[in-house]
Amino acid sequence: MEVLELIAKRRSVRKFTEESIPKELVEKIVQAGREAPTAMNTQELRFTVVRDKSYFEPLAKEVGEAIKRSPYHFNQATTLVLVSAPKSSGNAFANAGCAMQNMHLAAASLGVGAYWVNQLKDCSDAPAVRSILTKLEIPEDHVVTSTLALGMPQGDVLGDREVRSEVVWIE
Ligand SMILES: Cc1cc2nc3c(=O)[nH]c(=O)nc-3n(C[C@H](O)[C@H](O)[C@H](O)COP(=O)(O)O)c2cc1C
Repeated sequence: MEVLELIAKRRSVRKFTEESIPKELVEKIVQAGREAPTAMNTQELRFTVVRDKSYFEPLAKEVGEAIKRSPYHFNQATTLVLVSAPKSSGNAFANAGCAMQNMHLAAASLGVGAYWVNQLKDCSDAPAVRSILTKLEIPEDHVVTSTLALGMPQGDVLGDREVRSEVVWIE
C-alpha cells in the first residue's frame, strides 16, 4: 500500500486471535522501529521483545497495582515490544514516539494488529514492576517510554476515523 494511504488508514487494534505472530513479521516491525529517527542520531532506544507470555500476567498485575487500575491487561496480545530509553535523555519520549509510529505502520502493512500501551512510563520504578523489568534485562537507568502490544488481528487493521486536529495556514 502507498505510504500516505497507510498512514491515513492505520488503526489501533485491541482484539486478537490466539494465533502467534510469525517471528519474521515481528522482526520486521521492530526493525522499522529501529530505523526511526532519533535526536542527534543517538539511537538510544532499547527494544525488548517479549514473546514469552508467562511474563504478561505478572507484568499486567503489577502495572495495574502501581497505577491503581484493576483489572489491567494487554487485551490478549501475543507479543509486547517495550521501548525503553535512558531516564537522563531529554528526547526519550520524542524518539520513542517516532519508533512507535514506525512500528505501528509496519505492523499495519504486514496485517499485524497493534496498539500503544502507555502506562509503564508512569510506573517503571515501582519496585514490583522494576523487578519484572530487570528480569526482562531492561537497565535500571531506563524508563519504559511506551509499549506496542501486538497480535494477529480479529478483523481489519485498517479503517477510517474522523480527523479533528487543527491546521492553521499563515500565507
Ligand atoms: C501517546 C499515546 C498513548 C496511548 N496510550 C494508549 C493506551 O494506554 N491504551 C490504549 O488502548 N491505546 C492507547 N493509545 C492509542 C490511542 O487510543 C489511539 O491511537 C487513538 O484512539 C486513535 O485511534 P487509532 O490509533 O485507531 O487511529 C495511545 C496512543 C498514543 C499516541
